[in-house]
Amino acid sequence: MPNPAKTEHPVLEPIAQRWSPRAFADTTVEPAKLRSLFEAARWAASSYNEQPWRFIVAARQDPAGFDRALGCLLDANQAWAKSAPVLVLTAVSTAFKKNGKPNRCAEHDLGAAAAHLALQAADLGLVVHQMAGINPSKVQALYGVPDGYEPQTAIAIGYPGKAADLPEDWMRAAEGAPRTRNTFDDFVFAGKWGEASGLF
Ligand SMILES: Cc1cc2nc3c(=O)[nH]c(=O)nc-3n(C[C@H](O)[C@H](O)[C@H](O)COP(=O)(O)O)c2cc1C
Repeated sequence: MPNPAKTEHPVLEPIAQRWSPRAFADTTVEPAKLRSLFEAARWAASSYNEQPWRFIVAARQDPAGFDRALGCLLDANQAWAKSAPVLVLTAVSTAFKKNGKPNRCAEHDLGAAAAHLALQAADLGLVVHQMAGINPSKVQALYGVPDGYEPQTAIAIGYPGKAADLPEDWMRAAEGAPRTRNTFDDFVFAGKWGEASGLF
């Protein structure tokens, strides 16, 4: 179901439409659309163009591969994400290729790539739900993630489903709950930390 952002200022349509439901339809995501999602991620900006993001993709058509990815999620996420047709595990390279120095923007840049992916998904009528609730050491071990890379998050991808099909009351309630955000003065400052910018 759609759950658009109630924006106070105009934004691009996919930004308004993007949200994070837990209900997914039992519909396969076309490989061409998945390719577009990773193309969108690929064109995110990154510090020194390092592109520190890495993605491991698992689709339900490959049950063993899907179960391996699903098993890397915490139980509360597995409960709903098991119905998503596609799971993606994310990781970052923690150091710059050219000099081995730590890349303090690696997680920032993965976030940017994930946001690109989520917005492209919204534009294609797909929904995406990102998750911090994973077991990073399990990802590391099961997928042979080498030193210098850190698993970060998971992303469930699919077509929107019905809240009524979710397994828990709190999940069904969350689908219909109002989406809330901080006020602009909570996070846009000018002059001094915490001082409202006067822009809004
Ligand atoms: C990095 C990140 C980690 C998240 N981790 C989880 C998670 O482990 N489980 C979950 O159900 N939702 C998770 N979420 C979804 C957020 O709760 C959701 O994005 C937030 O409530 C805002 O809602 P919206 O995406 O619908 O605007 C995560 C989102 C992000 C971006």
